[in-house]
Amino acid sequence: MLKLNDIHVYRGQTYVLKGVSLEVGRGEIVALIGANGAGKTTTLRTISGLLTPKNGSIIYTPEKDDPPWDISGAQAEDIVARGIAHCPEGRGVFAQLSVRENLMVGAYLRNDKKQIEYDHERVCHMFPILGERANQAAGSLSGGEQAMLAVGRALMTRPRLLILDEPSLGLAPLVVEFIFDMLAEINSQGVTVLLVEQNAVMALKLANRAYVLENGQVTLSGPSDELARDEKVRRAYLGGE
Ligand SMILES: Nc1ncnc2c1ncn2[C@@H]1O[C@H](COP(=O)(O)OP(=O)(O)O)[C@@H](O)[C@H]1O
Ligand SMILES: [Mg+2]
Repeated sequence: MLKLNDIHVYRGQTYVLKGVSLEVGRGEIVALIGANGAGKTTTLRTISGLLTPKNGSIIYTPEKDDPPWDISGAQAEDIVARGIAHCPEGRGVFAQLSVRENLMVGAYLRNDKKQIEYDHERVCHMFPILGERANQAAGSLSGGEQAMLAVGRALMTRPRLLILDEPSLGLAPLVVEFIFDMLAEINSQGVTVLLVEQNAVMALKLANRAYVLENGQVTLSGPSDELARDEKVRRAYLGGE
């Protein structure tokens, strides 16, 4: 569904991604793990059109029979409109807007009013707090609730591919557990997931496959259960011996 081929990205003068290649198959949950500063956020921002790679291609095939589309250098809003939703690092909720307004921001490129209301109901069913607090300012929500709002807002775009940047960051273990359960649920409803995480334990539990990013390069990849058993991964990311 998504294929990055040899992506190189500079941020200012800094050479950040040094030839990243990775694939996300339709229906999969793929994790991208790595330490702080490895280039995970840069990778996601490049996929969603917020950064432009120096070279390489990002081939996106929304549906099986669609023609493959190179989205490197495409406009971010065209990429969203074609089904890639980005749940950003730090959530990016609009503190002054209400919870409902934040969710509706996710639907702003759509004009299928009935479907939008239906999707809003589905999101509130998945995260009941977002329905209960519909008219409250998003800034007054707890960190965990804001994380749910960010996922909900991404779902309001009707994504085929949901990319998430460290949804677990700063959250209590039970909240992380709940959000990851919901990601599994979202995936079971047909949404492909690419998940960036420093929390390798949780990410490897949820994902089918994973990539390890170090210093702007993929150094390891494979089925999550294999990576979870890998000596080097255990030492560097799982706190094992
Ligand atoms: N706006 C920027 N300008 C210059 N360098 C940046 C910028 N943003 C990030 N970087 C650098 O790019 C590298 C990768 O950052 P990032 O993709 O945020 O890593 P991660 O998400 O894995 O923690 C880091 O060395 C960081 O300092
Ligand atoms: Mg990051």
